[in-house]
Amino acid sequence: MALLPILSYPDPRLRTIAKPVEQVDDEIKTLIKDMFETMYAAKGIGLAATQVDRHIQLIVMDLSDDGSQPRVFINPKVTPLVADKNTYEEGCLSVPEFYESVERPTKVTIEAMDEDGNTFNEEAEGMLAVCIQHEMDHLNGVIFVDYLSRLKQTRARDKVKKVIKQRARQGDVVPA
Ligand code: NI
Repeated sequence: MALLPILSYPDPRLRTIAKPVEQVDDEIKTLIKDMFETMYAAKGIGLAATQVDRHIQLIVMDLSDDGSQPRVFINPKVTPLVADKNTYEEGCLSVPEFYESVERPTKVTIEAMDEDGNTFNEEAEGMLAVCIQHEMDHLNGVIFVDYLSRLKQTRARDKVKKVIKQRARQGDVVPA
């Protein structure tokens, strides 16, 4: 297992469109393990492969408080079920220590493969709906700050710069 460097906003590699996973082989399974380790170490609840500079359609997530509910979404398709939208305060491991409200459809359907290559369908609302839409955006090269005003995007950029500097001083891993 290995900790993977997480790309930081506004790294242009975060704009890459992810390709479908063709086969859930050992290489993908190792990447899944590494992504979970990286996500838990960074105290995140979701991580898209795009964020660790691997441009394939793979998302890991754990919405529990104690790391007990790891979820894997491979080649996910997410479709809004209702026109209703809700606002949640979102954060992102690629935009460290920056949080802002984003409006998204409240209910979606998810079709994806799990880590064993089995397809599943699921209706999602609440945190799961928010998180899967946020992570899907990463696979499409979209970051949640894209929904914000120019002013807030500038604030996000400044915040990330500051955090990276601080972490470098503290001797933490500097994101690539
Ligand atoms: Ni994110």
